[in-house]
Amino acid sequence: MRVDVITIFPELFEPFLSTSLIGRARRRGLLRVDVHDLRGWTTDRHRTVDDEPYGGGGGMVMTAPPWIAAVREIAAERRPRRILLSPQGARLDDAKVRDLAGAGDLLLLCGRYEGIDERVRELVVDEEISVGDYVLSGGEVASMVLIEALSRQVPGVVGLADSVVRESFRAGSLDFPQYTRPRVVEGLEVPEVLLSGDHGAIERWRRERALERTAERRPDLLDPATPEA
Ligand SMILES: C[S@@+](CC[C@H](N)C(=O)[O-])C[C@H]1O[C@@H](n2cnc3c(N)ncnc32)[C@H](O)[C@@H]1O
Repeated sequence: MRVDVITIFPELFEPFLSTSLIGRARRRGLLRVDVHDLRGWTTDRHRTVDDEPYGGGGGMVMTAPPWIAAVREIAAERRPRRILLSPQGARLDDAKVRDLAGAGDLLLLCGRYEGIDERVRELVVDEEISVGDYVLSGGEVASMVLIEALSRQVPGVVGLADSVVRESFRAGSLDFPQYTRPRVVEGLEVPEVLLSGDHGAIERWRRERALERTAERRPDLLDPATPEA
């Protein structure tokens, strides 16, 4: 899978892209992420990317020309899906992650300030994605959320493919509670069944706990007619 990112803060991505599962996936060639500095497409001496909003009001708006030039140049060869990270976009969920994981190359646009001139969205964006109903200061962290979720869908990135299939949302429910050593923590014991060695009983217990937890916390996952918790 290949992802290109456009940002004015490329340095934010360095530790993220070289650490843990993502770092390993990149070193093994399973995932390619190229981060581009938007300022490379500016034409003035100060490499300006923002200006005052028409109509007045506070803050600055990212100007359209560098964005349009950057997206057109990067997208010219491979025709990636061009995604603007935006609090006004469709909210990211597991179905969307799987959809994008199968969509081929992606190009992510990370806004800053009061956002990007609207004409960028009209001219060079295919869709807008939000990581939740709150406002971040920039699209970089939102891009990282998307890249990390997508990377888990790439075969070989997560050691045991089974753990991706079983985790929350994919199985139509939240995950079951997990335990590891020590056996007792401040008087709280690991459920006996997990020590029993009876794999059938363990599977049943896990399924029951997953359903119980989902009914309690996210009944909408079990019955889509229920409003989200
Ligand atoms: C301060 S925000 C701009 C918010 C904009 N004025 C509004 O109210 O919709 C700057 C940038 O952060 C990113 N951003 C902020 N919140 C986000 C969210 N929930 N999901 C994805 N991107 C977000 C977007 O790229 C946005 O252009």
